Amino acid sequence: MNPNRHDLILIIDFGSQVTQLIARRFRELRAYCEIYPCQKVTKEFLRQKQPKAIVLSGGPGSVVDDNPFAPPEMIYGMGIPILGICYGQQIMTTQLGGVVEKGDVREFGKAIVAPNSEYLKAKIFQGLFKDGEEIVWMSHGDKVSKPPKGFNQIGFSDNSPNAIIADFDRNYFGIQFHPEVYHTVHGVRFLENFMNIAHVQPNWTMGTYKDEVSEKIKKQVGSGKVVCAISGGVDSTVTAVLLHKAIPEQLTCIFVDHGLLRENEAPEVVTMFRENFQIPLVSVEASDLFLGKLKGVSDPETKRKIIGGTFIEVFEKEATKLKGYDFLAQGTLYPDIIESVSFTGGPSETIKSHHNVGGLPDKLGFKLVEPLKELFKDEVRELGKDLGIPESFLSRHPFPGPGLAIRCLGEITSEKLSILRKIDAIFIEQIRSHGLYNKIWQAFATLLPVRSVGVMGDGRTYDYVCALRAVTSVDGMTAQFYPFTSEFLSNISNRIVNEVSGINRVTYDITSKPPGTIEWE
Ligand code: XMP
Repeated sequence: MNPNRHDLILIIDFGSQVTQLIARRFRELRAYCEIYPCQKVTKEFLRQKQPKAIVLSGGPGSVVDDNPFAPPEMIYGMGIPILGICYGQQIMTTQLGGVVEKGDVREFGKAIVAPNSEYLKAKIFQGLFKDGEEIVWMSHGDKVSKPPKGFNQIGFSDNSPNAIIADFDRNYFGIQFHPEVYHTVHGVRFLENFMNIAHVQPNWTMGTYKDEVSEKIKKQVGSGKVVCAISGGVDSTVTAVLLHKAIPEQLTCIFVDHGLLRENEAPEVVTMFRENFQIPLVSVEASDLFLGKLKGVSDPETKRKIIGGTFIEVFEKEATKLKGYDFLAQGTLYPDIIESVSFTGGPSETIKSHHNVGGLPDKLGFKLVEPLKELFKDEVRELGKDLGIPESFLSRHPFPGPGLAIRCLGEITSEKLSILRKIDAIFIEQIRSHGLYNKIWQAFATLLPVRSVGVMGDGRTYDYVCALRAVTSVDGMTAQFYPFTSEFLSNISNRIVNEVSGINRVTYDITSKPPGTIEWE
């Protein structure tokens, strides 16, 4: 979005695992911010971006090493507030003439900081230290041993005498702890105080975003026509509805049924879409093609490649049938963009490779329209609400592009898919009837490629085993299993074994991510 319309907080990333959370917290405060890896931040870049404030993130490096990553010194001549967090505090200290030393002790986890009472009334401490101290989260080895000239030591912890330093004339702040993580109890208040000191207006709302992005779409597309692949998921639905409102006569959506969807999912998505949105929709039934190509294939990566490749093939065929379409709309989100420029790579790279339509544009020669690329997932949901999209769409659990193929372990057959659909439907129905659907990030069943012995009535059975998985998560990158009661688990097991023929054993997956992943393949 145009940074001149919204005051920009520029977050310079030095590779911390939690840099994205800095942006999340500012967005919650309705401030507009963007993250860039430090290598990308040049003088020219700064001139062009004109940030209203700068945050230097934490990072795994040490400023004491040779050639540490550093922001251009120009930032200290821009007359804007700067907040350095952890590595950010240390690099700012070094650049401005202070001293950073390797610490004797690593400080990791919970710590207590107290203010230097002289500065308790400072704006940056507004609403803080009500009980005389704050619980914060630290993760560092090095520490500032001498603040730069003009800086005061305004807060300390047991192991960090300079846990908070400030140059009040220039509004530069350096903190050893991480205000962006939830464990720092009043971290958001600290960030809010910084934002207020920088006079950053809290005007980043989905209502204004909707109007601005609509204008942007109109400008980009002109009188051109746009095609959009939809899956029934939140991102593609919000993309489609946003485009439809902006350019009502110029959009057509394509829904590809690859035969790997859940019980009744294909007709339901098409009906919901047609009834709710009146957007032209081409629905393509291609189950035989996909299942034919997957016959005899049991390797997970090969399955994914076949599905991705076939999807492109089918989409290409349909898109070329529609004449005069130059643009392809995609529901790319901000985390995908950050990941693709991040200099550390990090755990999120796995998520990126999931992007099953990521290969489409180059191959098809469409120009890309990505109206959600500045948003986080929860902002997309908020935008969806603002666009009047029913809650039933917005609250749907994520569903992977390759669908049931990666939940039917080993070779896929129609019989196995049919068993899996029945189990999944019962599981979701039970979750919904207990009012748990919205408390769970994602819940599903997988069919294992083994049979086990059981007894039903007076007879021996030798049937398939299924595993149920339900996790809580914020973003899918880490996850915890959902703690169902044993009564719930016992009921669900009874229902599945009694109602689904071909299954005689039900297991519940209690692995966190990491070390497990959410999906089994
Ligand atoms: P994992 O299994 O890596 O999954 O822990 C994290 C999240 O990503 C979803 N997922 C996919 N989504 N295409 C997608 O669109 C894919 O190929 C894919 N694989 C996994 C998964 O359901 C979970 O929400």
